[in-house]
Amino acid sequence: EKDTPEDRAVKSQKSNAKPPLTLPVTPSRYDAPFPFYRRPAEVGRFSLDSQRRYHGSAQQLRYYAPPPMEGPVPGFDLRDGYLDRYVQRSENVREGLDHLLQWVAQNRKQLQGAEEKGQLLNTDFVTWRGHLTKVLTTPYEKQDGWLLAVSLFRGTLYVSEFETESAKRQREQRSELLKELTYMGYKFEQYMCADTPDGIPDPTRVVNTNEGFCTVIRTRLGTHSLLFSGEVDCTDPRSPWPDPPSCYVELKTSKVMHSPAQRRSFYRHKMIKWWAQSFLPGVSRIVAGYRGPDGSVVELETFETMKIFQLIREDPGCWKPAVCMNFCAAFLSFVKKVVTEDNPKLVHLFAWEPGHPVSFSVHHDSEYTFLPDWYVEALSS
Ligand code: A3P
Ligand code: MG
Ligand code: MG
Repeated sequence: EKDTPEDRAVKSQKSNAKPPLTLPVTPSRYDAPFPFYRRPAEVGRFSLDSQRRYHGSAQQLRYYAPPPMEGPVPGFDLRDGYLDRYVQRSENVREGLDHLLQWVAQNRKQLQGAEEKGQLLNTDFVTWRGHLTKVLTTPYEKQDGWLLAVSLFRGTLYVSEFETESAKRQREQRSELLKELTYMGYKFEQYMCADTPDGIPDPTRVVNTNEGFCTVIRTRLGTHSLLFSGEVDCTDPRSPWPDPPSCYVELKTSKVMHSPAQRRSFYRHKMIKWWAQSFLPGVSRIVAGYRGPDGSVVELETFETMKIFQLIREDPGCWKPAVCMNFCAAFLSFVKKVVTEDNPKLVHLFAWEPGHPVSFSVHHDSEYTFLPDWYVEALSS
């Protein structure tokens, strides 16, 4: 028997309804106009103290306190204290989304969603900013893959990263030099930040990487509403944009550059990560400290996040912000199509390796389950 047009329509609908199995990452596929991205709004804040304990307050927020003038910087020794004043956060604890979930559970009344959509919270996605940064940079990433676990629970998709085997190996085999460079990034923060709006930095103190201040942001990318949190280095009490998140400043260190070729490479490979990290939460400025070979800071440079695309667009071999954002929107659509069963113990593990499309596997009540029982219970009552 021959199919009627309706039969064919139903059949094609059925095959259309089948979720695609992979998502391509090739930049040219996403080279389209910049998608809608709603201005990020801060909806909350929390802090992690020197023992990594959660506080629903801004107690760990620090204040931007740069040396009096830009240009050559006096006396920043980024190696100072590495051996005797360094308390490192334990890397063997998988925190997952827990601190963010604690904030969500404590603020769920404020986040009440639409019952008719079956959404308890009024957001499609909950995740860390850092996970989204990795998604944004994927079309251009040549080295590091990722694993993102997703669970749908009461109408919201939760996204939590798992470490890849290769990242674990790299972490365990990190050289002494690399460990010291990591310390130097934190030490730079200490030189640039004070405890109070009018205070001055105190570089004699211990650097403790358990401490952190996190902002909670709501925004929308295309058809996707997002709630994410990210760690913020400091706020500028004298910022031309006084309200959070625009008043926040991201601090970064990088090796001092000596040639236009070095600067171009820095724009191509490093600036993409800096831009993605700060653009997502609406952090308006990035302050770079350029490291000399002796661990001193040779120079400071301030970048306005919104002007970074102007710096890179002259270089045809460079990354494009629109490609990053269009890919992220496509990834979130892919996740929505694939993950449709509402079940906190069910995990779809999205995996990506450079040179391949994004794929996924399904895991029921496995080691990948990441929504804790206390959270599921808190949102069920
Ligand atoms: P730099 O940014 O100067 O490299 P953040 O910049 O996100 O505020 O992070 C602060 C510091 O933490 C970084 O300083 C770096 O030293 C360390 N750090 C952040 N992400 C890291 C990573 N993926 N691997 C190693 N160190 C990292
Ligand atoms: Mg930071
Ligand atoms: Mg920083």
